Amino acid sequence: MPASVLVGTQWGDEGKGKVTDLISGDFDVVCRYAGGANAGHTVIANGHKLALHQVPSGVMYDGTYPVIGNGCIVDPEVLLGEIDMLEAQGISCDELRISGNAHIVMPYHKDLDGAHEKRLGKNLIGTTKRGVGPTYMDKMNRTGLRVQDMLDEKIFREKLEAALAYTNPILEKVYEMPTYTVNQVCETYLPYAERIRPYIVESSLFLNEQLEAGRSILFEGAQATMLDIDHGTYPFVTSSNCTAGGAVTGSGVGPTNIGRVLGIAKAYLTRVGSGPFPTELEGEIGDRLGEVGHEYGVTTGRKRRCGWYDSVVVNYAARVNGLTDLAITKLDVLGCLDEIKVCVAYECDGKTYRTVPEHQSVFYHAKPVYETLPGWGCDISGVRDFYRLPREAKDYIDFLEQLAGVRVSIITVGPDRDQTIDRYWK
Ligand code: GDP
Ligand code: IMO
Ligand code: MG
Repeated sequence: MPASVLVGTQWGDEGKGKVTDLISGDFDVVCRYAGGANAGHTVIANGHKLALHQVPSGVMYDGTYPVIGNGCIVDPEVLLGEIDMLEAQGISCDELRISGNAHIVMPYHKDLDGAHEKRLGKNLIGTTKRGVGPTYMDKMNRTGLRVQDMLDEKIFREKLEAALAYTNPILEKVYEMPTYTVNQVCETYLPYAERIRPYIVESSLFLNEQLEAGRSILFEGAQATMLDIDHGTYPFVTSSNCTAGGAVTGSGVGPTNIGRVLGIAKAYLTRVGSGPFPTELEGEIGDRLGEVGHEYGVTTGRKRRCGWYDSVVVNYAARVNGLTDLAITKLDVLGCLDEIKVCVAYECDGKTYRTVPEHQSVFYHAKPVYETLPGWGCDISGVRDFYRLPREAKDYIDFLEQLAGVRVSIITVGPDRDQTIDRYWK
């Protein structure tokens, strides 16, 4: 099959950027299909360390087209800053293509994101404050502006005027914040439009033409299964369909083109922002994982909450994404522990759950049931062959594979592109 989807199986930051970069040399196109600048994907290769928010992680390869699909939202300021950063490092963005149907993050979306979080007080979601929720709200409300609206100043002004007629009263009356005028927004956004214009394409048409020409596409997921608006821990989620189904609606490529779905799972677990996290470790072990794994957000710099690997979550991700393959990342980090726990089920009110319970109160009160495995207690970052891993590390992978019901095709043992064990992907 010509298309594959790469998707986060947990609460984000699983190492999607690294694995996308690793495998995207084998694809002709790498397409982001959901989310916006809330994503922070790290790529370390060829002497470059990149933190990418908007541009697909396949940008490092000459001959691979990076595409921002219609399901994404585009923050012009972040996008153009990223293009400048890449070009300053000698990485060309000439082949970047952006869907005309992707929605634009406006300045008032960021204001509303911050103001809404403030209003929620201790119940806040802990968003990245990139304006994601309000931009998708406007999309669904049919009051949003799209990238294609930037092609024509007259249309842009008209649509902006209509959007402000709706948004200004919310800013003023609900949140007691300053409002915007059309001219004020145009002053910054029209110059952005000039720079973005050359990248705008009919991306569904482009992607399908590529498929017809026998070329292959990798869909790079952002965020993750448990942050999906439908399948995640609502309301502590992002505002898009980050699961594999989003690759279809977020790109305009039919599901019959997709063969493999690669789930990315960290060998332990992290989460940024609020919301339930049954296997969270609040003591010394959690701190150690955070230190050794450098668990600080790429987008916000926030300290990530750390916990044990939760096989109930990954098994659920296998179901809702239809995973064919799994990549286990950051296995090297667990070398700092003597023993390792894996959550194999939850208990709540005397009942045992082997899958993520649909009812949120059950999930909130779920107590993890653990199995304890011996650690390997050594540095494995130089290992490139599965059979050269310590026995305990191989057993750990075999156990995760069995619990997920999906083969572990890739294992990563360090942040660099080559710190990888490919078992069955290629
Ligand atoms: P993403 O959002 O899923 O792309 O993940 P992030 O880039 O936000 O976070 C993953 C972090 O782990 C980054 O700092 C990566 O450089 C790093 N990383 C990825 N794979 C490995 C690995 O196998 N071992 C270690 N130690 N770090 C890794
Ligand atoms: P990548 O692609 C981890 C989390 C935020 C917050 C919730 C909603 O790097 O894995 P939003 O700004 O989207 O409205 O925030 O989702 N979140 C992420 N957490 N990695 C991400 O992206 C995330 N994108 C959003 O912390 O809890
Ligand atoms: Mg990230």
